[in-house]
Amino acid sequence: MSKKPLILGIETSCDETAASIITENKQGNPKILSSIVSSQVDVHKEFGGVVPELAARSHIEKIEWIVQKAINESGKKISEIDAIASTAGPGLIVCLSVGLSFGKAFAASINKPFIAVNHLEGHALSPKLSSNLNYPYLLLLISGGHSQFLKVKGLGEYKRLGTTIDDALGEAFDKTAKLLGIEFPGGPQIEVLAKKGNPKKYDLPKPIFNKGGCNLSFAGLKTAVLKISKNIKTEKEKFDLAASFQRTIEEILYKKTKIAFNEFEKQDNFKEKIFVVAGGVAANKKIRSMLTNLCKKKNYQSIFPPVELCGDNAAMIAMVGLEKFKLKQFNNLDYPAKPRWPLDEKAAFLKGAGIKL
Ligand code: KG4
Ligand code: ZN
Repeated sequence: MSKKPLILGIETSCDETAASIITENKQGNPKILSSIVSSQVDVHKEFGGVVPELAARSHIEKIEWIVQKAINESGKKISEIDAIASTAGPGLIVCLSVGLSFGKAFAASINKPFIAVNHLEGHALSPKLSSNLNYPYLLLLISGGHSQFLKVKGLGEYKRLGTTIDDALGEAFDKTAKLLGIEFPGGPQIEVLAKKGNPKKYDLPKPIFNKGGCNLSFAGLKTAVLKISKNIKTEKEKFDLAASFQRTIEEILYKKTKIAFNEFEKQDNFKEKIFVVAGGVAANKKIRSMLTNLCKKKNYQSIFPPVELCGDNAAMIAMVGLEKFKLKQFNNLDYPAKPRWPLDEKAAFLKGAGIKL
């Protein structure tokens, strides 16, 4: 039996320093041998957001032992690693540079191929770490920096069907949390507070709800939360606003996903009704169950990564590395960090994001 590929993944695009070793099992399915994620929440808490220089410094301090820990926990030797995959973008350039340089140097020192990975492609392929998934599929990518519906045609082949015209969904969660006085990063806390509140208490706007296809907009929602939050006096009102915000998001995603299903089915080479949700916000249980129910209604197979693989991690970077390794898609050691690196380059450079409202 030929040796199964062993890939080291490295992720430092924002405020998580992460390393992972993955391989394939006998059936050829990806298998995580180790996945270490070290968050920098404590570094950035007092500033209410990620400070790029502090994040980069923290990556530099931690990268070596995080990679060492990932290798130790995998039970493999350095000499058994077949390729090193590092996130090259998009993200904060000072942060990207740390993992990228480390990955290149590591690859050069053990004389193994280096693979540059798009962080968003990592999220897009993250469900492959736990489910069999055939191309093409419809992807809803909802993270701190991106909110998009994409047709995933294959490795490196994406067609954008819809995108946010202003804030990303994770950003909307984080800003709402901040207005409610919740410490950074507040997104996940909204879900906790929402459980205690009345979701019907506040009527919040749903920007471009009845126009713009499956494009999204969350900025108006944030402004409305800002106005209401100024008059909030009790804990109960705070819970009600968190619950109303989350209910509004659910309604927006429900409607826009239905539109995205139609768009997806109209695409060339449409085969199966497969819907994947990935990115940090995909960890939200209410959003997961609402979208799962919609998929049942519309006969879609719904696939979510396990919660620990929704947020930033290096197993998803190694996953892209594994697919690229099998196709011998290697990169040179002068590969640059790309702070901006859209999955669908054509759509990203359309004027006004190409959206007709
Ligand atoms: O994918 P991710 O870890 O990093 C980026 O690539 O941006 O996503 C982080 C985002 C943050 O905005 C965070 O508040 C949001 O995901 N998030 C959540 C939840 N968990 C993380 N938003 C809502 N509900 C959650 N449970
Ligand atoms: Zn991410």
